[in-house]
Amino acid sequence: MTMLDEPLTRTTSTGPGGTSTGSAGREPAAGHRPGQRHRRLHAWVASVAELTQPDAVVWCDGSREEYDRLCELLVANGTFVRLNPELRPRSFLARSTPDDVARVESRTFICSEHEADAGPTNNWRAPGAMRAQLQDVFAGAMRGRTMYVVPFSMGPVDSPFARYGVEITDSPYVVVSMHLMTRVGTAVLDRLGADGGFVEAVHSVGHPLVDSSGRRRADVPWPCSPTKYICHFPESREIWSYGSGYGGNALLGKKCFALRIASVLGRDEGWLAEHMLVLELTSPEGRTHHVAAAFPSACGKTNLAMLQPTVPGWTARTVGDDIAWMHPVGEGDDAELRAINPEAGFFGVAPGTGEKTNPTAVAMVASDTIFTNVALTDDGDVWWEGLTEDVPAHLVDWQGQDWTPDAGRPAAHPNSRFTVSAERCPSIASTWDAPEGVRIDAILFGGRRATNVPLVVEARDWAHGVYLGATISSEQTAAAEGTVGELRRDPFAMLPFCGYAMPDYWAHWLRVGERLGDRAPRIFQVNWFRKGPDGAYLWPGFGENSRVLAWALGRVEGTADAEETPLGRVPARDDAGLLGLALPDDVVDRLRHADPAALAEEYDLTAAWLATLGDRVPPEVTAELTRARELLAAAPRG
Ligand code: GTP
Ligand code: SPV
Ligand code: MN
Repeated sequence: MTMLDEPLTRTTSTGPGGTSTGSAGREPAAGHRPGQRHRRLHAWVASVAELTQPDAVVWCDGSREEYDRLCELLVANGTFVRLNPELRPRSFLARSTPDDVARVESRTFICSEHEADAGPTNNWRAPGAMRAQLQDVFAGAMRGRTMYVVPFSMGPVDSPFARYGVEITDSPYVVVSMHLMTRVGTAVLDRLGADGGFVEAVHSVGHPLVDSSGRRRADVPWPCSPTKYICHFPESREIWSYGSGYGGNALLGKKCFALRIASVLGRDEGWLAEHMLVLELTSPEGRTHHVAAAFPSACGKTNLAMLQPTVPGWTARTVGDDIAWMHPVGEGDDAELRAINPEAGFFGVAPGTGEKTNPTAVAMVASDTIFTNVALTDDGDVWWEGLTEDVPAHLVDWQGQDWTPDAGRPAAHPNSRFTVSAERCPSIASTWDAPEGVRIDAILFGGRRATNVPLVVEARDWAHGVYLGATISSEQTAAAEGTVGELRRDPFAMLPFCGYAMPDYWAHWLRVGERLGDRAPRIFQVNWFRKGPDGAYLWPGFGENSRVLAWALGRVEGTADAEETPLGRVPARDDAGLLGLALPDDVVDRLRHADPAALAEEYDLTAAWLATLGDRVPPEVTAELTRARELLAAAPRG
């Protein structure tokens, strides 16, 4: 094995061993290697190389040259199709294999010392046994490939809320995706110095090009393995991912680090790592607020994060679309919850993203975007269901097959995605990368519910809000394997992402609420997906969701009226219908209420489900269920 052990840009003017960016003005010592002062980092990289046996080791510097060079390599390998530069400049299409299209929850493991700490909703494996298994599957896994060492920051480097990681991967697709999704580069190594803490993240597609007897085989456009492991060691803050090149399975800064490992850091350090978008909203009076919202995968976070308000005078700006790290800071009257978006890009669902639903995202992906599993047009551009009303007469579908509108199958995979830097987003907030984050004034919890959940409900207090978050259920989407449409509990939209015991996580939320006291953000439950008897959505959604946000912020400001119901507070019926929107009476009724008999049934299911979560469920949560049942029983019927 040749240990290149040098930055990829080694041919640039900084010379051998120079780190080329981020260390300007500093003379690299003779034989200096990136991050060399950091003994643990170097020992770890060497040990992973020894285990996985790559042909070469390359330290990534996060530069534009590195990005461009790897994109060229991906085109040459057949992983990337370069899109028509006139229609979609500097953009590429990748097609995965059909068995590697989404997160694999059944192969996602939390390997805490004690099973009880992984809790009732995670797949637990004993760390010792899992380590032994991983040693086996990773042995020689990178033979014939280049091993990239990718230092990255979640959050602006040097922000008090930032955390650092290093991903080792044998996938150049992952490296370029990490460039867009995180802050990659030498500045991170400089920041780590000799002994800075970082999360160790090892990734292999699990498709070596040379076997143990030295026989070489040709590479394929989308290497992966039928055997998959997405493993987390919360105590040692380590991630080991094998066999998938797709999304959250492989871009380890995202779900593995920023949610599963970070939720554990947050538990231990007193903050929250959440599956939430963050949106800045300014009222006609010029008052700016921030809303954080948790919805399960493919339930509208990107859409809401890029909302174009229909309510006159309101403006909205995007801080983040998928993950928020929220820290309680200050004491007493000065206490507040401050949030950063730890990511630096968007990995958004393509289908359903169109001029009508999300024009901001359509503009965002006009160039400099990596598309995965969308369809290719005859003139070298991309298309997916919902991008345009007109369906092209001919396409190459996400599997590389000819496609016509009568094909009887979607042209783009339902979980096809775009990957693009946050800087490309026309609605990005000026504060999106502020090291001190933004102050959160309201928190929304939502899901995809055809029945039983009204358009918007304000929680009575923090504990009621925690109960609403804890009991979210939602119809399953294509973002993970499973049956699309099936109703499942997805507490806090964190079911697949919480790195420790769900009941403990609820207790942690309750503690954070106590810490913030009456300075805590208001909590709301929302549901854009309520359907009428004919199966059609009752609420127009998208830009019109600004009506709900304006009402919620009116509640925060004390200017909006509400009506008490057994479920919580809902907006009053108005002259137009609801929230200034003209809607028929029966629709307004359905959007403000739920059928008491159906609710009573749902509460029974909630009780049965809570019982499966064991004895660590906080008494506050069960007390909220009891209260909900009492209020429902006491409510006048009719
Ligand atoms: P992840 O990236 O998987 O975490 O998901 P996300 O929550 O960011 O998902 P995204 O915003 O991409 O959700 C897209 C889906 O939600 C598409 O099917 C949209 O059409 C649908 N959607 C978003 N907002 C609305 C809305 O207000 N009303 C309705 N009916 N559908 C919506
Ligand atoms: C999700 O599934 O919630 C995503 C996509 O945001 S992935 O990063 O693949 O998990
Ligand atoms: Mn997500």
